Amino acid sequence: MEESEVFTLLGETGFDRLVAAFYRQIPQDDILGPMYPAEDLEGAEQRLRNFLIFRFGGPARYIEQRGHPRLRQRHFRFPINQAARDRWILLMNRAIEASEFPEEAAHCLTRFFAETATFLINQSDAAAHPGASAQALRWH
Ligand code: HEM
Repeated sequence: MEESEVFTLLGETGFDRLVAAFYRQIPQDDILGPMYPAEDLEGAEQRLRNFLIFRFGGPARYIEQRGHPRLRQRHFRFPINQAARDRWILLMNRAIEASEFPEEAAHCLTRFFAETATFLINQSDAAAHPGASAQALRWH
């Protein structure tokens, strides 16, 4: 299915479920927990939620409140290596699973997250995983 049709299928409540299931896992995560603002997790949840709703064909509330997404730039202050990227995807895939979305919507989201998360890698851990950073460069 087209990415722009996902919102029609899931609606606001679908995206609410997804980000709630994702952020529920953040505080206790050893890699991601320390990166997120403990005092404003609800705000972080809203930002991701509004971004996804906009990105998948819903109202552009994210743009009104935050402007152009510039995701790579906005993530520069967080050390995102392959391990952080893989953990983020692990938690998000669990959240997708828990949300029990129709197969085609789940597939669309899974692919989008995998590609975007790779694009956001900004730290090389070439010593630990030779090839990981070269791979990120090749793709983007
Ligand atoms: C690759 C691993 C990732 C890590 C470690 C990470 C980490 C973070 C952190 C710590 C924040 C700050 C939370 C806040 O206060 O808003 C953030 C914000 C955000 N992230 Fe990620 N993120 C990752 C991947 C992604 C992906 C794949 C997406 C795309 C859906 C995404 C979308 C966003 C958005 C929209 C914001 C809010 C930006 C803003 O308006 O300031 N992130 N991320």
